[in-house]
Amino acid sequence: MELAKLKSIHLSDKDFSRLQYLIKNHCGIRMTSNKKTMIQARLQKRGRNLGIDTITEYCDYLFSHEGMKNELIHMIDAITTNKTDFFRESTHFDILVKNVLPDIIQDKIWSVNKPLRVWSAGCSTGEEPYTLAMVLSEFAANQKNFRFSILATDISTKVLDEAKLGIYNIDRIDPVPFEMKVKYLLRSRDRRKGLVRIIPELRKYVKFQRLNLLEEDYTISERMDIVFLRNVLIYFDRLTHEKILNRLSRYLNYDGYLFIGHAETLNGLDVPFIQVMPTIYKKSSIK
Ligand SMILES: C[S@@+](CC[C@H](N)C(=O)[O-])C[C@H]1O[C@@H](n2cnc3c(N)ncnc32)[C@H](O)[C@@H]1O
Repeated sequence: MELAKLKSIHLSDKDFSRLQYLIKNHCGIRMTSNKKTMIQARLQKRGRNLGIDTITEYCDYLFSHEGMKNELIHMIDAITTNKTDFFRESTHFDILVKNVLPDIIQDKIWSVNKPLRVWSAGCSTGEEPYTLAMVLSEFAANQKNFRFSILATDISTKVLDEAKLGIYNIDRIDPVPFEMKVKYLLRSRDRRKGLVRIIPELRKYVKFQRLNLLEEDYTISERMDIVFLRNVLIYFDRLTHEKILNRLSRYLNYDGYLFIGHAETLNGLDVPFIQVMPTIYKKSSIK
């Protein structure tokens, strides 16, 4: 086999360790050795799109001054895992409507003049914030003067671009209840395309923004009442969990709620949250 071909197939141990270090430092994601094949495949594909033949050359470009300036963002796009769904872990949305929103309203944390502020952190391609927009719109229809806004953030510009468009393959919307499909989704004119789009009246509630949870400060001007940080912590180590959660708590009102993914926990972490239900926490006023 030619040397160039051999190089293109194998990500060397040296390149893998410098990638591990860069990814961990830049966005907190742990890339354990079992991820090597996945990284290799994704970066090879990215390299091919740039007309770069071998993964060695791709790494050399990435770690160059120019690569750090122009390619880092695309490398992050290529390696992040963006799996998501409409109504993912749907009990969260039932609890939101049946317990959390009535509690917030009763406690008068939320006032008539101030919209409820919800943050979908690590929003991926938008299914989570649009699910929130549907559920909150339904709630608003029965709750006088209730207003809300949703901030949806992610580190990956690629998923944010898709999310902003709000266009999905029809098979992605299976989990959306029928009445909400009728109200909030539009079929493409050309039915053969099999696409749907979130209606503009719903899209307007969601503001998308690039935000790296690992940064020291977040560009968020007003405190949130509810944060969905689901299936994001899973990619970070314990120390990073504490850093992110302590930082994130500064952007949440006291008694504000935090939802995490069903496979995640805050057990044993030194963070200012009290558990109120499995995977649902309130910001504590003590710490
Ligand atoms: C598996 S998706 C979860 C999507 C959605 N929250 C859900 O539960 O369906 C994880 C998202 O976290 C984002 N992410 C990973 N590291 C991040 C970081 N340091 N800052 C912000 N977002 C990050 C990824 O780009 C990805 O879109």
